[in-house]
Amino acid sequence: MAAIQNNDGASRGHFGSRFGFIMAAAGSAVGVGNIWGFPTQAASNGGGAFLMVYMFLIFLLGYPMLVAELMVGRHGQTNPADAMAKLGRSPVTKMIGSLIGLASIICAAMIFSFYAVLSGWFVSNTLAPIATMVGADEVSRWLIDFSFSRNAVFTLVFALMCIYVIQKGVQDGIEKWSKRLMPLLFAILIASVIYILFQPGAMEGVSALFTVDFEKVMHPDVIIGALGQTFFSLSIGTGAMMIYGSYLKANENISKLAVHVTFMDTGVAFLAAMLILPAMYVAKHNGVTIFDGSGNLLSSDTLVFTVLPALFATMGAAEHIVAIIFFALMSVAALTSAMSVVEVPTSYIVDKTAMSRKKVTWIVGAALTALAMAVVSNFDFMFGFMIKLATEITQPLVCLGLAIFVGWLWHRNSLLTEIKGQDGADENGIFWKVWPLYVKFVCPALIIVLISTTL
Ligand code: PFF
Repeated sequence: MAAIQNNDGASRGHFGSRFGFIMAAAGSAVGVGNIWGFPTQAASNGGGAFLMVYMFLIFLLGYPMLVAELMVGRHGQTNPADAMAKLGRSPVTKMIGSLIGLASIICAAMIFSFYAVLSGWFVSNTLAPIATMVGADEVSRWLIDFSFSRNAVFTLVFALMCIYVIQKGVQDGIEKWSKRLMPLLFAILIASVIYILFQPGAMEGVSALFTVDFEKVMHPDVIIGALGQTFFSLSIGTGAMMIYGSYLKANENISKLAVHVTFMDTGVAFLAAMLILPAMYVAKHNGVTIFDGSGNLLSSDTLVFTVLPALFATMGAAEHIVAIIFFALMSVAALTSAMSVVEVPTSYIVDKTAMSRKKVTWIVGAALTALAMAVVSNFDFMFGFMIKLATEITQPLVCLGLAIFVGWLWHRNSLLTEIKGQDGADENGIFWKVWPLYVKFVCPALIIVLISTTL
């Protein structure tokens, strides 16, 4: 495997190709957040209006912050704690930088703790129709129903899938699997959208998505939801993109790569909305309940794990195959995202110790799985708590710290060297002239305003 030297002289992995990086970074970004989170949030929060606020935040805040995170990672050529410390100008700011980096690593661990549980459900729901087809009805019920044993087993299964990929390294693990799984995900998603749009009732779902209700969007909860969704969806503030940036070569043009990643991420969120919302209304057309007593759409977990299977059940011969395809899509999206989360603490410990990557991955994987098991054991409290703590508090705060470090502390000459080293980047061009100022003033201001709406 190709390797470059880090500060300590140990070898670090790096992406073998630009395409490999884009697939891996888009793989991290495109996940459960896009396919489940975004459509259901849009559906309950003002349809097209939510879509507009979200797109606005993605391009005005998400994209420049994604560029910032990738730049810091590539500049540092190391884990988030040391990469952030490198930007500090004094021992105190170096220490603060390192603490922000550590907070992002802890945030990655928190994300894994609930993401693995959720993703385990997708894997078990993929297997359930297969169990039914071979006549194992009891197993199939167990795979579908919420229970401690099912949750524990499939959290473990999913964690093992992530560990398997990550212990293989950057090129043989992350890059190889992202290049295989992402095209598969796009193919399944596009085929599913085309299929659903031809079903009776689908157009009502399309119009629900495009109905613009600004009253609902202007609620602080909705705006903070959209902000959380922006950072969560682009995987920023968790060190994941910083690590992937650290595996990039000095000549790669980050502003261009980040455009690909951002477009894929929003494109998939949009396509997923064009799948899930029409599917809801097809289900309604087929007699399945999709609204609660007060006329609101049912909660997102009910929609995905109850309404959609009820819809599949109305599809006759295609029932099982459609269910397998849908949950496989969710599982693939979840896997490429969770991999990047596991990579964050793994790379930190690989950098900090002399242990082999394989060994570190198993140790980190075991610790993360234990945390996810704590969520499984105390689901009612921990699941929601971890989501809130990680996505609504830690991620925005880490992003604020990142914007301040990049905007205010990164030494101009060092930043210019980083910019100039990229193929086709003109440090006097409009983008690289505006971006540092934008990250310095606009990003922190936007994040502070948005965070303060929750207080
Ligand atoms: N971006 C992923 C999603 O939308 O599902 C979730 C995620 C992955 C968040 C990796 C954070 C992260 F570091």
